[in-house]
Amino acid sequence: MDQARSLRRIAARPRVRRSAAPPLRTIAITSGKGGVGKTNTVVNLACALADMGHKVLIIDADLGLANVDVLMGLTPKYNIHDVIQGNKTMDQVVVSGPRGVNILPAASGISELSNLGQDEKLMILQELDAFHTDADTVLIDTAAGISDTVLYFNIAASERLVVATGEPTSLTDSYALIKVLATSHGQRSFKLLVNNVAGAAQAKEVYGKLSAAVDHFLSGISLSYVGFIPTDPAVNRAVMQQKPTITAFPKAPASKGFKQLAQRLLDSPPSAGDGNIKFFWRRLVDME
Ligand SMILES: Nc1ncnc2c1ncn2[C@@H]1O[C@H](COP(=O)(O)OP(=O)(O)O)[C@@H](O)[C@H]1O
Ligand SMILES: [Mg+2]
Repeated sequence: MDQARSLRRIAARPRVRRSAAPPLRTIAITSGKGGVGKTNTVVNLACALADMGHKVLIIDADLGLANVDVLMGLTPKYNIHDVIQGNKTMDQVVVSGPRGVNILPAASGISELSNLGQDEKLMILQELDAFHTDADTVLIDTAAGISDTVLYFNIAASERLVVATGEPTSLTDSYALIKVLATSHGQRSFKLLVNNVAGAAQAKEVYGKLSAAVDHFLSGISLSYVGFIPTDPAVNRAVMQQKPTITAFPKAPASKGFKQLAQRLLDSPPSAGDGNIKFFWRRLVDME
C-alpha cells in the first residue's frame, strides 16, 4: 500500500475501544522546524512523568537526527529495523534509560514502518504484541519537516504537542505542519509548548500569534497552550553531559518548566481514550 493511502486509512480510524488492559496515552512531539527543542522536551518530559509514577516509552522517530539516546547517555546496539528484518525481538531492541524510561530506537527502520508489505506487517505486529511493556505513556520524537513519516506518527498518536519558539521561522513551520495535518489528515486538536523564551509573557505572545493564524485561516481547529520552557543555559550544559536537564540540574528554571508541563498534561487527559498499547501498535503498522 502506498504511504498516502496508508496515512488516509489511519486518519479515518475510530479511537475509542473497550479493553481490559490499561489505557494508553500517545503523544507525538513535533514542530515543523528543527532545532527548536523537541528532543529535549521528549527526554525531560519522559523523566518528569516517570518521577510522577508513570511508565514511559519513547519512540525515537527522527530518522535523520536520532538523538534521544545521545541525550540520555545511551548507546543502543539495534533499532526497529532489526525487528522488521526479523533479526531481533523488541526486548532486544528497547533500551532502558534514566528513571526506568524505555526507548525504542527507530533510526533507519522508521520510514520502513510506514511502508510495510502485508507479510512484514504481520511479522512485526506479532513481535510488537509479544513485547511486554507496562507503558502507560508513549512519547514520539518526530523529525523536522512535514515528510510522510512525520505526518504518519502525528496521525498514529492520539495527541500532538507542537514545540515552537519565538522565531518567525518556527511559527511559520508550526503553522504549516498544523495546516497539513488539519486539512489533509483530519487532525483537529493540537497542544502548544513554547520553548526558549524569556518568560510567560513572551510565551503567551508566541501562542497568541500562532493561534491567531490558526483561527483566521483554518476552521474548527483547537490549539491549546500547555506552557513554556525558559531560555536556560542548563539545557545546553545538560546536553553536553548527555543527561536530561531535570536529572543534571533539577532546580534549573527549565527543569521547573518541564515538570509543570508534565503536570499540565496529566491535568488535561484526552477526552477519547487511546485503547491499549496493542491497539496503538496495530494503528502504527496499519493492521486493523
Ligand atoms: N530552553 C532552552 N534554553 C536554552 N537552550 C535550549 C533550550 N531548548 C533547546 N535549546 C538548545 O537547542 C538545542 C536543540 O534542541 P533539540 O531538543 O535537539 O531540538 P530538536 O529536537 O527540535 O531538533 C539544544 O541542544 C540546546 O542547546
Ligand atoms: Mg531532535
